[in-house]
Amino acid sequence: MKTAFVTGITGQDGAYLANLLLEHGIRVVGAVRRSSSPQVGRLEELGIAHRVELIGCELLEASNIRAVLRGLRPDVVFNLAAQSFVGASFEQPVYTTHVNAIAVAHLLEAIRECCPETRFYQASTSEMFGHGHVGAQNEDTPFHPRSPYAVSKLYAHWMTVNYREAYGLHAASGILFNHESPLRGREFVTRKITHTLAQIRAGREEPLALGNLDAKRDWGYAPDFVEGMWRMVNHPQPETFVLATGVCHSVREFATLAARCAGYDLAWDSDEAGECGRDRASGRKLIVTDPRFSRPNDVHHLIGDASRAKSVLDWSATTTFESLVERMVSADVDRLARGASAV
Ligand code: NAP
Ligand code: GDD
Repeated sequence: MKTAFVTGITGQDGAYLANLLLEHGIRVVGAVRRSSSPQVGRLEELGIAHRVELIGCELLEASNIRAVLRGLRPDVVFNLAAQSFVGASFEQPVYTTHVNAIAVAHLLEAIRECCPETRFYQASTSEMFGHGHVGAQNEDTPFHPRSPYAVSKLYAHWMTVNYREAYGLHAASGILFNHESPLRGREFVTRKITHTLAQIRAGREEPLALGNLDAKRDWGYAPDFVEGMWRMVNHPQPETFVLATGVCHSVREFATLAARCAGYDLAWDSDEAGECGRDRASGRKLIVTDPRFSRPNDVHHLIGDASRAKSVLDWSATTTFESLVERMVSADVDRLARGASAV
């Protein structure tokens, strides 16, 4: 492979994937949507902004996608771009559908017409499994999407499978469980927790407000997961793979450990305002619950079984939950101490 085209390059996974591709000596061309100032903070933090070529590509414009692919004829397209925040998809279901679902149909059509030898990776998600499953979810688990985001991603997943079966495209779908890092967007719960606790440690008075503390996720480390994407596109057969750590924790457990890494021993209790987390030493409320951060429908419990990726791709997650939390907290504490702007 010589040239990779990456949509969503300004996001968490786009930055780590670009880094990995550059390490493999691949030319990386990233799609950015129109903006007066593209968000390249993550690429800058990894020190690779100058090594990545950015090209304007709005996923809502079929003609734009086709023109870019016709000109570039990349060896591989990684489609990472999305309206990726599940909570926002309840407010903006139609926009979410256009970006996450319809744009994928445009991308696949453009590849079929302009460069059918190009390999394709679709960023599918464990959200598609939804709820109601006993035990860990794998490639054979039925889907039950519980948000407009999950429904849109399910459409894109099935389109990827269909273009593989109908036209013989090398189209892989990676069903990835949650993966986090110091470059995670600040609205997602893990980074919201680590960033806000770092701020509290640095003097912020307002507590951290969270929604559903009981939700459980299988949280891995993003750089491990982009390695799995790379292995999928290099595998001779285009297939569907689950990537996960196989271990899950609740939001409450993540927050308790993150607080410990920030220097607080949290005790949970409830008062008239709801559940809260207090610093045992001072009795101060550091975490409160706020229904504004709860969703009309939530997925309560996700845990993945990546044994197929292990046996076929020799992929497994190598970073533990404890190490992930520790890395995220120390990165946020460090950024604040240096006065660096948060990505
Ligand atoms: P992210 O940080 O939210 O990044 C999303 C990217 O999509 C950004 O670069 C964003 O560009 C771009 N984008 C959004 N709308 C666009 C549009 N209309 N045209 C062009 N680009 C657009 O997401 P992530 O965590 O890196 O996740 C990458 C992909 O994996 C997403 O598709 C996500 O749904 C999926 N996924 C993520 C996880 C996870 O745990 N992280 C798990 C499973 C699947 P701007 O910078 O301009 O906003
Ligand atoms: N964001 C957020 N903010 N979530 C909260 C909060 C809060 O204040 N309080 C509790 N939660 C709960 C959510 O209700 C959800 O159950 C869980 O924490 C995780 O929420 P997010 O971090 O927003 O991630 P997600 O699991 O909904 O979605 C992420 O992972 C998917 C893979 O399973 C995103 O990266 C998706 O794009 C990805 O597909």
